[in-house]
Amino acid sequence: MSFSQKILHWYSENKRSLPWRSTRDPYKIWLSEIILQQTRVVQGEPYYLKFVENFPNVQDLANASEERVLKLWQGLGYYSRARNLHATAKTVVKEYGGRFPDSYDELLKLKGVGDYTASAIASICFDEPRPVVDGNVYRVLARYFGVAIPINITKGIKYFKQLAIEVMDGKNIRDYNQGIMEFGAIQCAPKKPYCLLCPLNESCSALKKNLVQTLPIKENRTKVRKRNFNYLVWLDPNNKTRLSQRKGKGIWQNLWEFPLLESENELNEKEVRKELNEIVSGDSFRLFLYNESSIVHKLSHQHLYTKFWIIESNAKLENGFSLEDLESYPVPVLISDFIKAFKNSYF
Ligand code: ADE
Repeated sequence: MSFSQKILHWYSENKRSLPWRSTRDPYKIWLSEIILQQTRVVQGEPYYLKFVENFPNVQDLANASEERVLKLWQGLGYYSRARNLHATAKTVVKEYGGRFPDSYDELLKLKGVGDYTASAIASICFDEPRPVVDGNVYRVLARYFGVAIPINITKGIKYFKQLAIEVMDGKNIRDYNQGIMEFGAIQCAPKKPYCLLCPLNESCSALKKNLVQTLPIKENRTKVRKRNFNYLVWLDPNNKTRLSQRKGKGIWQNLWEFPLLESENELNEKEVRKELNEIVSGDSFRLFLYNESSIVHKLSHQHLYTKFWIIESNAKLENGFSLEDLESYPVPVLISDFIKAFKNSYF
C-alpha cells in the first residue's frame, strides 16, 4: 500500500463525525477551515455551529454588523481573521453573486484565503487535486519521510509543498486531505504519537531513526515582546464605567476595552495615581489594584502583563457604560475573563 492509500484506509476507519464533513457547500467549508486555523477541532466545533446557525449562508454573514461577527468570534483570538471573514462574505455577495468561486486560482483571490484555505475548499468541495499543508501535515510528512528541513523557512515551505503534491491521492483528494490532517491530529500527535499502534509504523523514517520527538524542525526566529498593560476600571456612583474601542492596526482592532495605560515598566499605585490626577484633576476617587500579581496574557508574539486598577469615583460619568451591559460588547478574552471574575467578587 502506498502512503496515501494507508492514510485513506486509516481515515475510513478512524474519522470523527463532524458537522462540516457531510457537506460540500463551499461557504460552510470555508467557515470551518477559517475557524480551524484558529483552534483545534474540539474547540472549533461549537464556533462553527454558532456561525452556521446565525448566518446560514454567505448573504446572511455579509449583511451582519461587524460587531455581531466579532462577538461570535470572541475567544478565538486573532480578530483580523474575523474581519477578513466578514469582508470576504461581502465580496462573494457583491462580486460573485453570492456563489463561491469553484477553483483554487479564483479562491486564492479572496481576502484571508491563502494557499491552505484555497486548497482545502477546492479539494473538499470541487475535487480539485490540491494538497493541503497545515501544521498536522507538516508533522506527518516530516516524520514519515524523515525530513529535517525547518518547516517555517521558505526552503522548507517549498520542499514540503512539493512532497505533498508527490504523495497525495489525486483521485480522492477530498478524503485524502481531511485524512492526513485527521491522522496528524489523532494518531501522529505532536507530543504523544501512538507509534506502537500506528498502521504506518513499519515504514516511518522518524520511528526507525528515533527522531519522532525531534521532527518536524522549526527555526526559532520570533522574539516575544513583553508589554505592560494597566486597565483603568472606572466605577461611578451608578456603577457605570468607561469603555473605549481600539482603533488602528495591531491587536484587537475594533474590540472594546477599559481605558488603557501602557507603560515601559510595571506601574505601582503611586505611579498610576499620578497619571490619573492628570486625567481627572479635581475629582475625588479611591484607587486600588484588583490583581496583586500581573495576569500574563499570551499572544503569539506578545506577552501582556496586565493589571486591572479599580477607580471608584464620586463624579458621575457622562456617557458611561453600565456594567450590566458590558458582556454584549465584543471584547478581548482577557477583558471578558476579568468582567466575569470581577462581577462575582465585587458585587
Ligand atoms: N483541520 C483543519 N481542517 C480540517 C479538516 N477538514 N479535517 C480535519 N482536520 C482539519
